[in-house]
Amino acid sequence: MNNHIEHNELFLLLVDEVAQIALAEKVANRLNGAFILLLSGDLGTGKTTFARGFIHASGFDGVVKSPTYTLVEPYPISNQRNCYHFDLYRLGEPEELEFIGARDYFNETDVCLIEWPEKAVGFLPPADWKCEFAYNKAGRNIKISALSDKGKELMLLVFSN
Ligand SMILES: Nc1ncnc2c1ncn2[C@@H]1O[C@H](COP(=O)(O)OP(=O)(O)OP(=O)(O)O)[C@@H](O)[C@H]1O
Ligand SMILES: [Mg+2]
Repeated sequence: MNNHIEHNELFLLLVDEVAQIALAEKVANRLNGAFILLLSGDLGTGKTTFARGFIHASGFDGVVKSPTYTLVEPYPISNQRNCYHFDLYRLGEPEELEFIGARDYFNETDVCLIEWPEKAVGFLPPADWKCEFAYNKAGRNIKISALSDKGKELMLLVFSN
């Protein structure tokens, strides 16, 4: 893949769901430790599709459902880690996350994938990547921003030739 990373940002066109999942798999295959990945974008732009692809490629075999009503679903993944998949669309107050113990999920081991992070501003710790999805006539556009040193390393690992 010949990608151009500038200012720790990268833009890609994902022409269909298969491409969306392939990108998620590529990221999962390069990621070992803890990581916080934000998934932003309008309704239906493919955030859950990406999360599902990531979780399956990380070693979880079962069904990955959308955690819209539970706010978060945990999945055991490879290397004795958990992947916590959040969907904060229906979050009322960021404090609700405190009540369900979500603070503990942001730790030195586990991966957190967070749909609708905008709903929990002030609660979430600094993220490693932000992925912003948008509709495009030919599928979806994605903008990936690496926000931490760990995030920058992963961006180079995944996208350098
Ligand atoms: N790159 C893509 N191109 C075209 N269609 C896609 C792409 N990625 C995902 N889709 C399709 O978009 C639809 C919505 O996907 P998905 O449920 O993952 O969106 P979402 O962002 O999680 O939505 P929500 O905001 O409701 O949680 C699905 O039918 C999925 O197959
Ligand atoms: Mg979703």
